[in-house]
Amino acid sequence: MKILTDKQPRVEVDAILGSAVRQDIEHHMHHYPDPRAASLDALKIVQKINGWVNDAQVLAVAQLLGISLADVEGVATFYNRIYRQPVGRHVILLCDSIACYLMGAEHLAAAFKQTLGIEYGQTTSDGRFTLLPICCLGNCDKAPTLMIDDDIHDLITAAHIAPLLESYV
Ligand code: FES
Repeated sequence: MKILTDKQPRVEVDAILGSAVRQDIEHHMHHYPDPRAASLDALKIVQKINGWVNDAQVLAVAQLLGISLADVEGVATFYNRIYRQPVGRHVILLCDSIACYLMGAEHLAAAFKQTLGIEYGQTTSDGRFTLLPICCLGNCDKAPTLMIDDDIHDLITAAHIAPLLESYV
């Protein structure tokens, strides 16, 4: 993965993010005493533009918040629901942590891969779904659990896959 450095040129924030997004981020900044704490909110706001966050947008966020590019990149890299490359219209996140693993997550992942015809990290050719693993979603008592976009789905078996996918066009 490419890691940005702080030796990047300054950018025109509004040209990259748009003034509405810039204002939304500025609004969130005021909720935090330290602008670094606003970086995750800022990245989530930017991600709504086209589903992922590109290098120029990371740079614009750092500049807007007045913090180091490394700080923003660190948050973007650490938080696995900030996507740094293009994803499909819907992102399927399959929990692969211990409780879900014990309840068959590995078989569920294989069934998703077969149904979608892709591996982890890939997007279907129609751009509809991206499949990714994720660590514990905090729903262990209802394992196996997965997430599609912002929706949690639990107690999932292979039989649920087709109807589940049909509900995300
Ligand atoms: S281990 Fe899967 S939700 Fe916790």
